[in-house]
Amino acid sequence: MQIERILHSQGFGSRKECRALIRAGLVAVAGRTVDNPAEDFAPAGLEFSVDGEAWTYREKAFLMLHKPAGYECSRQPQFHPSVFALLPDMLANRDVQCVGRLDQDTTGLLLLADDGQFIHRWSSGKKRTPKVYEVTTSHPVDDALIAALLKGVELVDEPAPIAAAACVKTGERSLRLTITEGKYHQVKRMLAAAGNHVKALHRSVVGGLALPADLAAGEWCWLDDADLDRLSAYPEEA
Ligand code: URA
Repeated sequence: MQIERILHSQGFGSRKECRALIRAGLVAVAGRTVDNPAEDFAPAGLEFSVDGEAWTYREKAFLMLHKPAGYECSRQPQFHPSVFALLPDMLANRDVQCVGRLDQDTTGLLLLADDGQFIHRWSSGKKRTPKVYEVTTSHPVDDALIAALLKGVELVDEPAPIAAAACVKTGERSLRLTITEGKYHQVKRMLAAAGNHVKALHRSVVGGLALPADLAAGEWCWLDDADLDRLSAYPEEA
């Protein structure tokens, strides 16, 4: 594949912009400046640099972001900055999208990708992917609250009660809740229906993939094959 096309596929701009980067001597492969936009390379796993920054060719982009509070999961945010402002332009350019959404005040594990099948697979409520939330509550957590969340609570516009897949008390005013649906404001609505209130919400796990302890709020990282395997490594319902 021509280096100009490679750069374009990775989000470095229009074909014309990529050509200009190459002609300006800003692109290198294996330490050698490549100034001919038509030079061919095998793209799989290609390591190259643009203006001194190293990149690896990826046919598809799969990543996770440690979402901080105060960011919206939208490309057209209304009241807060967009999570896309936390990613390099190259990723926004290649049409990376959020896999499901977290509220602006929710923190934690957010998956993003530019692969339609992946986005559908991991945002579809039908697949019953477990998602683990660390919930800080306004009022004390007691056994009755845990029991109510496990038994199921009535939510407006839902035909049947919604139950947590798992729920444990983690502190005087905190609990760990696992849900397998992805309904609008689900955790906040469940806690409200059970007579408490969410003060802070953090998603720590999706499927079998946990937010790494060393990924600080606002930081992102690629998902490698092992991460993608981990994501699916949970018992799926038939
Ligand atoms: N449930 C909520 O209420 N908010 C989120 O951001 C995620 C799950």
